[in-house]
Amino acid sequence: MIGVYDSGFGGLTVLGHLRRALPDRDLVYLGDSGRAPYGGRDPHTILDFAEQAVERLFEEGCRLVVVACNTVSCVALRHLQRRYCGPASPRRILGVTIPGAEAAVAASAGHIGLIATRRTVESGTYVAEIRKLGRHRVTQRAAPLLVPLVEEGWEDTGMAREAVRRYLADLPGIDTLLLGCTHYPLLLPAIRAALPERVAVLDPAPHVASSLVAWLARHPGYDPEGTGGLRVLCTGNPEDFGRHGARFLGAPLPPVEHVAEMDGRLAPRDPAEAPRGQVVRPHGRQGRT
Ligand code: DGL
Repeated sequence: MIGVYDSGFGGLTVLGHLRRALPDRDLVYLGDSGRAPYGGRDPHTILDFAEQAVERLFEEGCRLVVVACNTVSCVALRHLQRRYCGPASPRRILGVTIPGAEAAVAASAGHIGLIATRRTVESGTYVAEIRKLGRHRVTQRAAPLLVPLVEEGWEDTGMAREAVRRYLADLPGIDTLLLGCTHYPLLLPAIRAALPERVAVLDPAPHVASSLVAWLARHPGYDPEGTGGLRVLCTGNPEDFGRHGARFLGAPLPPVEHVAEMDGRLAPRDPAEAPRGQVVRPHGRQGRT
């Protein structure tokens, strides 16, 4: 069983490619929609959230976790790999930045543009990965309004087109634009319309899927083939996630299960038992048993 983790809905765009590339694998998707967006958060908060998410996926029985979120891959992947994937550990955690960087270098004649969240841009991780592969120039631009616009379902509005146009105006001379955030494929028509035809637009998701296929071929037996099952967990409202998530996946989602943070871990939660009104804990206690 392979875990796929994203800050919320966006990673469903990656999940769609993974399912098409690996139709016989069982997948568990965890979207931290209750705490998204991650893109402007403090890096240490992202590390804490990411630890809780991958631990949940390990508890669900995944030995392999794909961090579909660019922000988490850029900020927390090394930490997660060091913490959970030592030489003696059967667990592995893969990210999206290396496949994204490889695809951008292969596509570009020399000048790559990157749009992404603030934290992805500030991490410099994509720039570092691209530098390892070639002498390409990289111009980055944080585009913090785009995730909330897509979350609202406003990707086809004049507001979204104007926001995209303004962000992309800051990337003159690029020949390839790398979409460094899982939400941006939904803005593809607006992005395409804002760029000259000669600029290639690159969604890393298909490259993430093909590099996972290659990884599994190099590690035969690591994740035995299953039945192509899919479970979806989220930390936000599960009904909203199911309804809204279909837009990102391009297909209906199975019934979404709810998990929520309790005492530093993401625990399964029955929405019917969610407390209403004021919640009072016994005096002197920080958590709940
Ligand atoms: N999924 C995140 C990414 O790919 C973007 C959304 C967020 O800010 O949480 O960077």
